[in-house]
Amino acid sequence: MSSRKFFVGGNWKMNGSKGELDNLVNLLAKNSSETEVVVAPPFVFLDYLHNKKTNFGNNITNYIIFFIALSGQNCYKESKGAFTGEISPKMLKDVGADWVILGHSERRHVFGEKDDLIADKVAFALKEGLSVIFCIGEKIEERENNLTEKICFGQLGAIKDKIKDWSKIVVAYEPVWAIGTGKTATPEQAQEIHQALRKWLHDNISQDASNKTRILYGGSVTGANCKELAAKADIDGFLVGGASLKPEFANIVNSKN
Ligand code: PGA
Repeated sequence: MSSRKFFVGGNWKMNGSKGELDNLVNLLAKNSSETEVVVAPPFVFLDYLHNKKTNFGNNITNYIIFFIALSGQNCYKESKGAFTGEISPKMLKDVGADWVILGHSERRHVFGEKDDLIADKVAFALKEGLSVIFCIGEKIEERENNLTEKICFGQLGAIKDKIKDWSKIVVAYEPVWAIGTGKTATPEQAQEIHQALRKWLHDNISQDASNKTRILYGGSVTGANCKELAAKADIDGFLVGGASLKPEFANIVNSKN
């Protein structure tokens, strides 16, 4: 049995309103304490959820969110200044986020973020005291050309020299072809690359990082496929997009039970 605590992140992307977020939080009433749960709402709702965490009184939604950590969906590599539209790790912390998602495929491929910038952002977020969900993954043509490991190792390699402490990083392997497409990697496909990523950590970082770093799978995870994926030795949790907006998210959180 692995000592790595099972981890489920809900990436709500650009969805929701205050009222809808309350409903999403309530879905997690049956949350397993065996699982570390982190949700990433759009930035503008972080403070709203954080206030619920800190003033829970008799309110059930507030009580549930008390046990769930908050994450930003992105942040910049500077603490302040003339960077219109950006937010800093310090600002995320100020509104109650302990985590940030960096390197997500939508940031890489819709907004054109490159390895170097992402690595600087990961290093700066860690320095400022955030934990990081660091996303990697190959596109379909890369998989078809047997480049999956090369791409993923390259994305990890980009942060290697800028990061000293891996204890605050969770790696999310999210094949781009599986994100939002309904095409999940099979448990065998996911396990194969997760195992290779763990070996990469062993060979390039340390035995300790290889043993302790949680490697999440992401890409069309649902209530129907989560248990089989969660049973694989090197899958330590999930980063969930679409299904984190639905009641089945509670099943995914509890997929190890
Ligand atoms: P999906 O998204 O679960 O909708 O495929 C995953 C993600 O983008 O993290």
